[in-house]
Amino acid sequence: MAPQKLAAVVVPVTLLALLGAVAGQIRLSVGYYKYRCPKAETIVREAVKSAIDSNRGTGAGLIRLFFHDCFVQGCDASVLLNTTGSSEPTERASAPNLSLRGFEVIDAAKAALEAACPGVVSCADIVAFAGRDATFFLSGNNAVDFDMPAGRYDGRVSLDSEALANLPPPFASLEKLKEMFAAKGLDTEDMVTLSGAHTVGRSRCSSFSDRLPPHVSDMNATLSGTLASQCNGGDTTVPQDSVTPDGLDSQYYRNVLNHEVLFASDAALLASNQTADMVSANAFTPGLWETKFKAAMVKMGRVGIKSSADGEIRDKCWMVKVN
Ligand code: HEM
Repeated sequence: MAPQKLAAVVVPVTLLALLGAVAGQIRLSVGYYKYRCPKAETIVREAVKSAIDSNRGTGAGLIRLFFHDCFVQGCDASVLLNTTGSSEPTERASAPNLSLRGFEVIDAAKAALEAACPGVVSCADIVAFAGRDATFFLSGNNAVDFDMPAGRYDGRVSLDSEALANLPPPFASLEKLKEMFAAKGLDTEDMVTLSGAHTVGRSRCSSFSDRLPPHVSDMNATLSGTLASQCNGGDTTVPQDSVTPDGLDSQYYRNVLNHEVLFASDAALLASNQTADMVSANAFTPGLWETKFKAAMVKMGRVGIKSSADGEIRDKCWMVKVN
């Protein structure tokens, strides 16, 4: 390209980047590591595949890990930190995060990435790629396949108290769910769509025991009886989607309509005509939820992202960089 033409392209791109930074909108891009670390996305995908090949549940854990990362301090891998030097425990110590799984997959991917291109790939991007890849491998025929923009930096703050304050509890009402998602720039449709991730994975009985007998709830009596005997007063884990427990699909929405979901927050999607209509559309329009889920995962991946100005690329995902 002629130098004048190159300048004409480079200047606006630089200007746009600057304007974006000034406006607080950090731009992520698809293929961000293409030249910086060409094998980055392949390395993460291989780590996720090998984990899911030995236990599909780890895939569910990785999808949830991405959500729990993005909702607290933004998608900055703060959920991975064991230590920051602060006297307050990190997010990992918080009640909702005690059942997170998949940390070892992120650590394995990071180790391989540091060997391939040291200091280049952020843990925040690894979490986002891993969430995307788990979605891919758990979906039937790997149909839920999408690009995940990258360029996130890792945060240095991780506080136990912030996890509880920002992550919706399983007993949340519809109003509370809408409010907590809106606080992250996600609308009601995003909330309904992302809740569909409960089509995979497991839950501890303690997360829904308030919906089992002798408590009164709208849960289908056959399911609540089965769950009561599976839980047997203890805190074992059960599949979230009792119909197609292992596959990432739209069955969750048919379960919502049939009152066959675990949490009050799942059942709450029927509490307004607006959300109930979304549930029905996702339940009965082939491919609709999958298309919406891909877009909603990308949108969630933009929540509160950090740049080189307020973030770093960690050496190890569980500890902040020692400067
Ligand atoms: C709408 C608000 C949400 C609430 C109240 C909620 C709550 C929960 C709870 C209580 C569990 C079970 C934890 C346990 O007891 O072990 C769980 C599991 C899970 N959640 Fe959510 N969640 C929500 C949204 C999401 C979103 C947005 C995603 C991802 C996009 C997600 C993905 C998952 C997955 C995949 C699991 C299973 C994890 C595993 O098997 O390890 N959830 N959720």
